[in-house]
Amino acid sequence: MTNFSNRITKLFGIDYQIIQAGMIWASGWRLASAVSNAGGLGIIGSGSMYPEVLREHIQKCKAATKHPFAVNVPLLYPDIDKHFQIIIEEGVKIVFTSAGNPKTWTGILKEKGIIVIHVVSSSKFAKKSEDAGCDAVVAEGFEAGGHNGREETTSMVLIPAVVSAVNIPVIAAGGIANGRQMLAAMVLGAEGVQMGTRFVASEEASSHIDFKKLVINTNEGDTILTLKQLTPVRMIKNEFFRQVEEAEIRGVAKEELISLLGRARAKKGMFEGDLREGELEIGQVCALLDDILPAAEIVRNVWKEFMDGLANPVKRF
Ligand SMILES: Cc1cc2nc3c(=O)[nH]c(=O)nc-3n(C[C@H](O)[C@H](O)[C@H](O)COP(=O)(O)O)c2cc1C
Repeated sequence: MTNFSNRITKLFGIDYQIIQAGMIWASGWRLASAVSNAGGLGIIGSGSMYPEVLREHIQKCKAATKHPFAVNVPLLYPDIDKHFQIIIEEGVKIVFTSAGNPKTWTGILKEKGIIVIHVVSSSKFAKKSEDAGCDAVVAEGFEAGGHNGREETTSMVLIPAVVSAVNIPVIAAGGIANGRQMLAAMVLGAEGVQMGTRFVASEEASSHIDFKKLVINTNEGDTILTLKQLTPVRMIKNEFFRQVEEAEIRGVAKEELISLLGRARAKKGMFEGDLREGELEIGQVCALLDDILPAAEIVRNVWKEFMDGLANPVKRF
């Protein structure tokens, strides 16, 4: 397939500006290596892994692909110093940090020669990431699955805002699952895209098959950004969400929400397939999906649609 280089392909050493998002309970070594082998950048999501599990995934990923891959570390989880220790010991070359202050770890990782990208939901934090020495930022809009910003800035607004705030390359995320959406993001100034939801509905994602099937059967309006008193998260409106909603209407204290959330809600939903009681993180773009595909096919389809769109970007009639 024809491709072209820009700052993102050069930074990572990849063929296509397509990045598979790091995702708890979905993106292990199998998905990451499949995307990297297809010419995109695969990311292992360390947020749901104990340190030694992360080591195993990195080693398996190295064995499964000769291409570059990355590890995502959400800075809000405990044990992240152990995760970073393993990342350094295993010689991982690219790290995507998220959900925290980019100043805390970027310098330490850069000293070890690691490429660091931080995920942001505002141009203010994009600037902070640039000042902290990040090589690029992911601008993640309101549409995105998983944890998200409180400001609710949509990708359509966030991408150009971040592009004009920083000089480092911007990767767009949130609401992108096909090549036309990728093209739109690139027209707004992004130099690559990160897709999460699209890759949950892939054969290699480690999420439970019932969760994947639900993802491809959801419609517009079936997800919501909730739990804003804690860490805002976009998820499917299931029975667990109804309980959160009811508690919020009663105006409960933060502590009660924490205890309602409990431990392992996300694992219960996305990994164990409890679609009623689990936390089912997914982006709005699930409404456009109707198939579970091999990851390499997703990369190929998105790139083909992107190139077709580039040749014929607008309807003229
Ligand atoms: C199931 C799921 C789990 C996620 N887990 C993480 C995570 O562990 N770390 C992180 O930085 N982002 C996480 N995200 C957000 C993604 O990395 C990505 O930025 C987002 O999915 C992009 O928007 P999209 O879902 O519209 O493609 C998650 C998203 C989903 C759908």
